[in-house]
Amino acid sequence: MKHYDFDETIDRRGTDCVKWDALPAMYGRDDLTPMWVADMDFRSPDFVMEAIRRRCDHEVLGYTMPSEGYWHAVTAWLAQRYDIHTTKESLHFIPGIVAGISYALLCLTSPGDKVLVTTPVYPPFLNLPRESGRELVCSQLHTTNNRFAVDFDDFERKADGCKVFIMSNPHNPAGTVWGNEVLQRIADICERKGIIVISDEIHADLTLPPHNHLSYSTVSETAAHHSITFIAPSKTFNIAGLGSSVCFIPDDTLRKRFFGWLDALGVAGGNIFAFTAAEAAFAHGEEWLKQMLDYLKGNVETLRNFLAERIPKVKAVMPEASYLAWLDFADYGIDHKVLADRFINEARVVMNDGTTFGGEAYKCCFRLNLGCPRSSLVGVLESISRTLSH
Ligand SMILES: Cc1ncc(COP(=O)(O)O)c(C=O)c1O
Repeated sequence: MKHYDFDETIDRRGTDCVKWDALPAMYGRDDLTPMWVADMDFRSPDFVMEAIRRRCDHEVLGYTMPSEGYWHAVTAWLAQRYDIHTTKESLHFIPGIVAGISYALLCLTSPGDKVLVTTPVYPPFLNLPRESGRELVCSQLHTTNNRFAVDFDDFERKADGCKVFIMSNPHNPAGTVWGNEVLQRIADICERKGIIVISDEIHADLTLPPHNHLSYSTVSETAAHHSITFIAPSKTFNIAGLGSSVCFIPDDTLRKRFFGWLDALGVAGGNIFAFTAAEAAFAHGEEWLKQMLDYLKGNVETLRNFLAERIPKVKAVMPEASYLAWLDFADYGIDHKVLADRFINEARVVMNDGTTFGGEAYKCCFRLNLGCPRSSLVGVLESISRTLSH
């Protein structure tokens, strides 16, 4: 069995990657270690690269379509991992999940309609409704036992009159895995109030054992009836730059409405490399993914131990899925602006500022990306620890 090396340090600078090459424009310096943008510094899998190279051997790159092999790989992955038994008729290629959620909002809601989210959350969930003239409604999550939990009294109240709930499942910013009971309660409330649930499951494949991902559409017939699910190989196999994702809608009426709209507007056609890479990833990715998740678990443990020993006043929500940790530095009593400045200009580390995930309530919180070689993670943690010690 092939052994993959996730300790390898790969210089990504000069590849136009957002994570590294946007640093000077964003922060005015390039001597920073980026722990922000949610992709990994690991090599994309060899079987994906080979499939892309093979396709390049044929030197005509005309209009393309998803092949039977692509649909087979997608449907087999969904069946094996998530108990979603479906056919290509219930699926649609989407060139990226943020785009997919925008399309769904534009197709299924009108300006002024209310869109519900739970905060803190992945910033586009806040920006898409706002920037498209919808009314954003936020229900704040609370933390119990160092994990995020839905405040159902608040959620139910806020859900009144909403047309759509956009859910991150698992939850970004901290990889919280929503269990059956939580998803059932959401399904019950949303069905009663006539809300369409958009379940963004981009991080699902990265669920860290012993946690298990439950796809929203599978928790009940009700959930299947009112949901749109997005999945993707992009985070899983570190191929986000290819813009490859898939939308699943079990309900006939909802599906015809949304897929008809997508086709009429011509916004979800796909491209050669997105199909080629997704097919290779889903068809051959099981072992790579297993080894990568083992490595990520090691990074999560490294972070947990470091926090306990060296920066114990940090309150952390640790990932149950994916490679994002949510760190709350409030107990250090350092002003938010000073803290943010020290991370950049002293520690030379870029994390995502908590306020972008839902406003002032999250100042002093930062999201740390652990998808990197362990040596890099440890270096960053040492720098953060030093900058907090004065
Ligand atoms: C919850 C969530 N949804 C969507 C995306 C981005 O998806 P895409 O690149 O397919 O638009 C991210 C990336 O960080 C994410 O965390």
